[in-house]
Amino acid sequence: MFIFAATGSAVGLGNIWKFPWMVSESGGGAFVLIYISSVILIALPIMIAEVFIGRHGKQNPVASLQYLSKESSSFDVTEIDGDLNRIKTKKQQYSNSDDYSNWQLVGWGGIIAGIFILSFYSVIAGWTMSYILKAGSGAFNLIDLEGSKMIFANLVADPIKLMGWHTVFMILTCYIVAKGVKGGLEKAVKFLIPGLFLILIALALYSTTLNGFGDGMRYMFVPELSKISPSVVLSAIGMAFFSLSIGMGSLMVYGSYLSNESSIGEVTATVAFADTSVAILAGLIIFPIVFTYNLDPSTAGPGLIFETLPIAFGSMPGGSIIATLFFILLFFAAITSSISLIEPAISFLIERHSMSRAEASIKMGLLTWFLGIGTLLSFNLISDYKLLGMNFFGILDGLTSKIMLPLGGLLMAIFTGYIVKKKIVMDELRMGPIKFNFWLILIKYVAPIAVTLIFVRGLL
Ligand code: TRP
Repeated sequence: MFIFAATGSAVGLGNIWKFPWMVSESGGGAFVLIYISSVILIALPIMIAEVFIGRHGKQNPVASLQYLSKESSSFDVTEIDGDLNRIKTKKQQYSNSDDYSNWQLVGWGGIIAGIFILSFYSVIAGWTMSYILKAGSGAFNLIDLEGSKMIFANLVADPIKLMGWHTVFMILTCYIVAKGVKGGLEKAVKFLIPGLFLILIALALYSTTLNGFGDGMRYMFVPELSKISPSVVLSAIGMAFFSLSIGMGSLMVYGSYLSNESSIGEVTATVAFADTSVAILAGLIIFPIVFTYNLDPSTAGPGLIFETLPIAFGSMPGGSIIATLFFILLFFAAITSSISLIEPAISFLIERHSMSRAEASIKMGLLTWFLGIGTLLSFNLISDYKLLGMNFFGILDGLTSKIMLPLGGLLMAIFTGYIVKKKIVMDELRMGPIKFNFWLILIKYVAPIAVTLIFVRGLL
């Protein structure tokens, strides 16, 4: 169940929409190389830490962090029990244990980051839904680059349409969250992910037949080292966090479902592997199309997959059916991710404020929906209102992926590496000594130092 839920959360628009766009923004192979290294050396170790916190705490992220910090700040005292006249031990908190519960702020930050991300995620998921209909109606048949760009431009220029799709997507998300029927959807992941995988492989095979295949491969896999800069590294690390759903508590909530028998190391590695494969596959499909049709990847932007994929669909036999299926699968992948984005907030409101699931979903859904209006307008009416060269969507995306998620992950690494007692972590992870120590080095030194350095260099 955990693998389904966590894979459902991880595999989403991040892999198929955002990853190729980020690759193109950062100039190709250098980004891919740093992305894969960040997944292995930084993101996966932190993913293990996040799932550990969730499984050990067994509550919403805020409460789990509080519980774990209290637990590790207690110590055993031995005293003589006067009545029974024997020695007894009991747990006592350090007097400053309140300081330790500041760690709950990580949970809070995560709840806010989740709402921020979902607000734009829903708008992009709306594009996907609109593309299901377009694909089904044969709008992509024999389309060229101009036509495809036009379809996309017309969609994002229309605030009313965007609002409609955004609203539908948020209602669906909240409905599923309110009913608590996630279980069914998570089981569907069993068919969904393999389905998505199959269709992606078929599309990748198609891409091998294109003239631009060689150029696409060189672009993705031959790193131009001169393109590596602190900001490219920060965006690759941020992308790794975004794609694996880490740094904001989604996986803490899902970790609390994970049975005590499962090995956290194994299940997280499985999820990370599946997620990375989907992202790479998406790149293998998109870039050959980009080079075949002479698109300039550096100026592509968030419309990249919506402008390129229809050309491929339009020129293959049975393209309309494949395209429809593809966007339906992408929509389902998006909804299993969006549920995980809002779940930390929901579980917190239910447990801490004794709200019903329905009330919590409606309130959080409305808030998120409202915030999403900023994003959908930033593609049309307010696209020229910019701060530091970024529009509203750019700011929200940058703030979450490049600041909030890495910061959340950094704090989780420090928390697990330095605050929680080693014995508790060892008992929960039950890795062999070599693996455990390797993980410990990554979580105590490599991940925190890398993220801090990159923050300092990449943001200033
Ligand atoms: N990982 C998802 C994707 O790639 C998005 C997502 C879901 C997410 N839950 C998250 C991102 C938590 C960051 C944090 O589409």
